[in-house]
Amino acid sequence: MKNVVLLGANGHTSREIIPRLLEQKDVRLRLFLRQAERLRHLAGNHVDIIEGDARCPELLREAIQGQDVVISTMGGMDLGDKIGLVVHVMEDLGVPRIIAMSAGGIYDELPEPFNAWDKEMTGYTRPTNLQAAEEIEKSSLKYTILRPVWLSDKASEEFELTRKGEHYKGTETSRSSIGRFIADVVRNPDLHIGENLGISLPSTDGDKPAAYR
Ligand SMILES: NC(=O)c1ccc[n+]([C@@H]2O[C@H](COP(=O)([O-])OP(=O)(O)OC[C@H]3O[C@@H](n4cnc5c(N)ncnc54)[C@H](OP(=O)(O)O)[C@@H]3O)[C@@H](O)[C@H]2O)c1
Repeated sequence: MKNVVLLGANGHTSREIIPRLLEQKDVRLRLFLRQAERLRHLAGNHVDIIEGDARCPELLREAIQGQDVVISTMGGMDLGDKIGLVVHVMEDLGVPRIIAMSAGGIYDELPEPFNAWDKEMTGYTRPTNLQAAEEIEKSSLKYTILRPVWLSDKASEEFELTRKGEHYKGTETSRSSIGRFIADVVRNPDLHIGENLGISLPSTDGDKPAAYR
């Protein structure tokens, strides 16, 4: 069996990850979230739930102990600090594999004029998302960092990837595609190790996401 913990399990992206992980019969999934009653209905043979705030080191230790893969879809203006703590706990427990969401734009890598528009709209979140990526990159962990832009609930699982240092493609990312990508990496955790990837929906290039044009 493969033990996988999902931090931020009640988030919108996590909802796209959970069913895709549960298709894998060798996955034992642990859901970590605040107000656990929101997901209590999912508890069962292959799913256990830990209620907690990721700012609490003791609860993070309880959640991460014995896991093979840690996934974070957490957000928030303190994301960098939370991820710093997750990294610290993982290193301390000897749990090496993390897949974590940051955000596109943290390196000003979006093409103009989309970059300037995105910066005006969400630039205040860039420093903490950058800190999250840096905490992971400077660690000893086997990591995959994802940098989505403007998340949508479109059903498409299609994605295109850009590497760190490359110009970003696209203005949108579907949460379904993140669910697919992460499920594929959990199936084969040797994929995408040490990579910091832009992930976006193909054919969404432009000045803004379609909903804002
Ligand atoms: N929305 C976009 O267009 C966009 C673009 C680029 C990147 N991102 C990033 O993508 C990620 C996922 O997006 P999303 O739409 O799925 O976000 P979301 O629905 O807001 O989910 C984020 C989850 O993080 C959890 N969380 C935050 N602080 C926590 C803490 N201290 N302890 C435990 N859980 C905590 C929240 O828990 P609660 O449910 O308890 O509040 C929430 O369920 C976020 O990191 C976001 O910053 C978003």
